[in-house]
Amino acid sequence: MKKAPVIVALIALAALSFPLSNLLHKPSDETEKLLAQIHDPKTKKAAAILQGKCIDCHSSQTRLPFYMNFPIAHELIAKDIEEGTEEFNLNGKFAHNGAGFTELDLARLEGVLNDHSMPPLRYVALHWNANLSEADTKDLRGWIYQLRSQRRSVAGIHGDFAGDPVEPLPLTVALNANQVSLGRKLFHDTRLSADNTLSCASCHDLHKGGADGSVSATGIRGQIGPINSPTVFNSAYSVKQFWDGRAATLEEQAGGPVNNPLEMGSNWKQVLGKLNQDPQLVVEFKRLYPAGITSKNIMSAIATFERSLVTPNSKLDKYLRGDKTALSSAETHGYQLFKANCISCHAGKNLGGLSFEKMGRKADYFADRHTPLTQADYGLYNFTHKESDKFKFKVPTLRNIAQTAPYFHDGSAKTLEDAVRVMGKYQVGKNFSDSEVADLSAFLKTLTGEYEGTPVQ
Ligand code: HEC
Ligand code: HEC
Ligand code: HEC
Repeated sequence: MKKAPVIVALIALAALSFPLSNLLHKPSDETEKLLAQIHDPKTKKAAAILQGKCIDCHSSQTRLPFYMNFPIAHELIAKDIEEGTEEFNLNGKFAHNGAGFTELDLARLEGVLNDHSMPPLRYVALHWNANLSEADTKDLRGWIYQLRSQRRSVAGIHGDFAGDPVEPLPLTVALNANQVSLGRKLFHDTRLSADNTLSCASCHDLHKGGADGSVSATGIRGQIGPINSPTVFNSAYSVKQFWDGRAATLEEQAGGPVNNPLEMGSNWKQVLGKLNQDPQLVVEFKRLYPAGITSKNIMSAIATFERSLVTPNSKLDKYLRGDKTALSSAETHGYQLFKANCISCHAGKNLGGLSFEKMGRKADYFADRHTPLTQADYGLYNFTHKESDKFKFKVPTLRNIAQTAPYFHDGSAKTLEDAVRVMGKYQVGKNFSDSEVADLSAFLKTLTGEYEGTPVQ
């Protein structure tokens, strides 16, 4: 980085010129007002720390620091505030005792407590008191634990794990059984494709981890698609669908492949024409949906079926429910490594599916890949056309990950061990040792759950 010497010079200059501002620092009026509204003691402590040490770069309503008038500082700090606020915005989160902090927010906050990356060094150089002390870190962790344990939505988590960044999957989900059964049929119905050769299950085989085991999907007439097929298992727990998040719901997603020329290559008119010739199906639809067979109702039934594709009872889930023997010592160590390195992205029930992250946060993945960039590599950008969304992908779920090789949107990692090494280098910024890779992979293999009572294959 060419900027480094400039920053050092700037820091030295600023530190010499403005020592007093550190001593005079006192909470702003807003902070005092905010703290007065918080009654829970742990939340109050956390709010005081974040307001005092982090808010400058993580709120759009921030007061500008004193060195904003310096020429280079201005450019650097403005960028920090912009990027910091875009990445992690604290505005309004503390209202109602911290209700605004999502599962993802807490995981990312825990992530920076683990890797000590915040506040950035150049900020600490100018704000002597901004470093997080050990006591601060402990207070923030205690508050994260409290919020998580209050909010756990899945029954039966053992007290020791109530504050973990990962939750077990629910053992049952309440759904309309007739809709599930209709959706299951449609999911396996090749009439949804133009030439009656492909069903959803062709690329999302429930006996292949809900995916297809290929580098990228093969559509009708053998056409090779641009991107790896993700699993459909547990996709209900992802905030958006598709690698680039272009479908907000499972309903919306289900229309995509039907109309995609490289996948099922059909259209609703054609599909409705075919399905309406099936008297039994017409009756079945009528019973559940007054309007009968429509594209909307097809998508609704398929989405309901997909919500039933939940795979509880993995070894990890049993462990989190209190069976301490469910994980071996290598797997337990792998879970520790996972919690220390991976959870800012792979958190929650699905160990992912909560956010979009750049592939190559710590190093240039695409430059090192040695194959030309494709349109699909642009990820979220293809949907939003925002420059900062280039190369961002929905963080995939890691549930049943042992069953869904090859990995990544480009299918470039053949084994779990390869995928873990790549994640270490490009997302975490670490070259894991062979034994760390082995333990992390062993842990990932404990995420294989059960579908309808048998282990996912
Ligand atoms: C000088 C400005 C600045 C200050 C002060 C600052 N941050 Fe940040 N923060 C950033 C920037 C810039 C990013 C985005 C780039 C990055 O991740 O390095 C960021 C990113 C983050 C993220 C998202 C990281 C991720 O991996 O998802 C979290 C969480 C975060 N900061 C928390 C904090 C906390 C907690 C504090 C206070 C202890 C703090 N920040 C103080 C500038 C700042
Ligand atoms: C030709 C193979 C193919 C067929 C057929 C197919 N899909 Fe997919 N599916 C894919 C690929 C590839 C993706 C990823 C595309 C992307 O993200 O741009 C995907 C993505 C998805 C996702 C999003 C998962 C996630 O984590 O983002 C769901 C859900 C899904 N498909 C369900 C279905 C359903 C329902 C059908 C039938 C109506 C279907 N698929 C038919 C290949 C296929
Ligand atoms: C900064 C966010 C981030 C961190 C930290 C992170 N990941 Fe990922 N992970 C991603 C993204 C984004 C992808 C999808 C990348 C792609 O497809 O190009 C991914 C994909 C994966 C995959 C492949 C999933 C699939 O279905 O193809 C595995 C396995 C994985 N991560 C494991 C880990 C492990 C283990 C760690 C910690 C050592 C980790 N990740 C840390 C964001 C992250």
